[in-house]
Amino acid sequence: MDNILVTGGSGFIGSHTVVELLNAGYGVIVIDNLSNSSKEALDRVEKITGRSVKFYKEDLLDEEALCNIFNKENISSVIHFAGLKAVGESCKIPLAYFDNNITGTINLLKVMEKHNVKSLVFSSSATVYGKPASVPVKEDFPLSVSNPYGRTKLIIEDMARDIYNADKSWDIALLRYFNPIGAHESGEIGENPNGIPNNLLPYVAKVASGELECVNVFGDDYDTPDGTGVRDYIHVSDLAEGHIKALEKLSSNPGLVTYNLGTGKGYSVLEIIHSFEKACGKKIPYNITDRRPGDIDMCYADPGKAKEELGWVAKRDIDKMCEDAWRWQVNNPKGFC
Ligand code: NAD
Ligand code: UD1
Repeated sequence: MDNILVTGGSGFIGSHTVVELLNAGYGVIVIDNLSNSSKEALDRVEKITGRSVKFYKEDLLDEEALCNIFNKENISSVIHFAGLKAVGESCKIPLAYFDNNITGTINLLKVMEKHNVKSLVFSSSATVYGKPASVPVKEDFPLSVSNPYGRTKLIIEDMARDIYNADKSWDIALLRYFNPIGAHESGEIGENPNGIPNNLLPYVAKVASGELECVNVFGDDYDTPDGTGVRDYIHVSDLAEGHIKALEKLSSNPGLVTYNLGTGKGYSVLEIIHSFEKACGKKIPYNITDRRPGDIDMCYADPGKAKEELGWVAKRDIDKMCEDAWRWQVNNPKGFC
């Protein structure tokens, strides 16, 4: 079976995808600099799957180290997760984001081209749609960005399109994730943010566990059914399965393809809090506060293209997402330590 190189494979989405790759019979080689993850995640992946993962603690900024790995390993495709992802931080240190995400990707693409490995799955984001004019969002909607993190995603997408236009022997899947949440149902791996979480779900989980006091609901005057922001939350294991389908698609040499990975359903902040209350069996205190600058009212996917062309649909519902996130939180209150 083919060997897949997974950059950022010990991170949140990467570790869940490595589980699905191993379960599907692929060989897996991970490169990660562990700047936002722990090697323990991959030990847990081996425990879940009963299979082993080859791990290189390397940085994508080190082109020579990448070259050595490509010389040593027989790689057929790359799934590229590695990158910095905090929107607020990207506004404070944009250059670090451009260097890590864009230069890191350029290094990877140069080494792939040199070794004639021209099959790539890239982690893009719904953030490339900016403030969509309508929902559900389709892949051919106009693209725009409002922060340096989003800019790195759009620039990398644009680079991929230019590279493909110049050399049609590349096969590239740009996957635009909506809001990944949840955890593997074993409770062994999950999201492990440093410090106080910025995203809703990990914040709610820490309020439920008593580590944080109260959820701040950022605005209840949006143009949505209950006034709070609506998003397309997707179980990380469904997202991981989407990567297996994308790899299968790339093996048929489709050229450059772009897919939304979302459920197609929008949930409000209050609906998420209530679903999490069911999962943990406790009341979750919350306060309505001001809107968070830069937030949009509503964003959810039209996932029809991925269904039609990849045969992929998200199967796990919002209650399952909250139950799995809660199991991970209870079993690992301090993350991977
Ligand atoms: P994560 O931080 O958990 O995983 C990213 C991994 O990349 C980490 O393990 C980190 O140590 C590693 N990394 C970062 N820079 C590196 C470098 N220069 N060299 C080697 N390793 C490096 O994040 P995640 O949530 O798993 O996200 C994975 C990808 O998906 C990212 O590209 C992210 O931008 C994208 N994405 C995430 C979300 C989300 O909500 N989680 C949404 C849309 C897109
Ligand atoms: C954020 C990022 C986006 C990224 C996505 C990945 C911003 C501005 N955008 O999007 O680029 O692709 O994560 O998952 O950071 N909320 C609260 N209280 C909180 C946290 C969030 O009410 O403590 C609300 C937000 O206003 C929003 C919803 O919950 O309506 C989801 O927020 P979040 O999890 O941060 O995701 P996004 O804003 O969709």
